[in-house]
Amino acid sequence: MRLAHLTDLHFGAEVPEVVAALRDDLAGRDLDHVLVSGDLTMRARAGQFRAARELLESIGHPWTSVPGNHDLPLFRVLTRAFRPLSAYRKGVGRRAEPELGSGGLQVLGLSSPKRYLSRNGRIDAAQVARIGTAFTGPAGLRVLMLHHPVFRPAQRPGQPLVRGAEQALRAAARAGVDVILCGHDHVQAQADLALTWPGLGRHMIAVASGTACSRRTRAGESQSYTLLELTGDTLSVHVRHWNDGRFETLSETTWQRGADGWLPARAACRS
Ligand SMILES: [Fe+2]
Repeated sequence: MRLAHLTDLHFGAEVPEVVAALRDDLAGRDLDHVLVSGDLTMRARAGQFRAARELLESIGHPWTSVPGNHDLPLFRVLTRAFRPLSAYRKGVGRRAEPELGSGGLQVLGLSSPKRYLSRNGRIDAAQVARIGTAFTGPAGLRVLMLHHPVFRPAQRPGQPLVRGAEQALRAAARAGVDVILCGHDHVQAQADLALTWPGLGRHMIAVASGTACSRRTRAGESQSYTLLELTGDTLSVHVRHWNDGRFETLSETTWQRGADGWLPARAACRS
């Protein structure tokens, strides 16, 4: 099973050269699914959603997304108050909280931006309950996807986590989730959530990717996205960065599945 994780495309602040390279890099790959964890746009404008959708359709693989805080209108206050996800649903043409089950892959996407939070996100009690019921039956890989982070990348200390993270992660651990995909910080990072949240009782892999194709890079990192390849009980995670006019793999981590979840088996970085 081969997946790509993209996040924070931020159309409206995209870099055309990076968009074109991202499309080429993804279209040429054998992928089962592309998972997009929000901030497809800068300001939830129809044209920005159209451009994001055009990119995702042109890659030529099935794709699934959730909204980020930038995908809710900021200045159209009535729309934000009463129909916060209307622009996203219309622009993307899909549900804001997708469930997917195909070919051994199970995905639950949750909408973490809220109309009453300007930048931060929250997973509420109803969403925690959905984590508990969405993952049923046998699966090769169970993936939970949301925009806001459930762990703190070292490059962005002091930034808040999604509210309700602990309850969400406890539900995810009970549901046997393998991987949690998120974005928002615009840097790439991975974590064993059992180390950052003691008492979870399950080693789940958290993956954050950087901004895929926008000029909103952070902490000196270039644009990036992540490839995940599952072979039996081994998950290889390749982080591909924009570097010198193209995307290339600059770090690889191999995780091994055991009785209590996933442990890193090997990590390598290229500089
Ligand atoms: Fe973002």
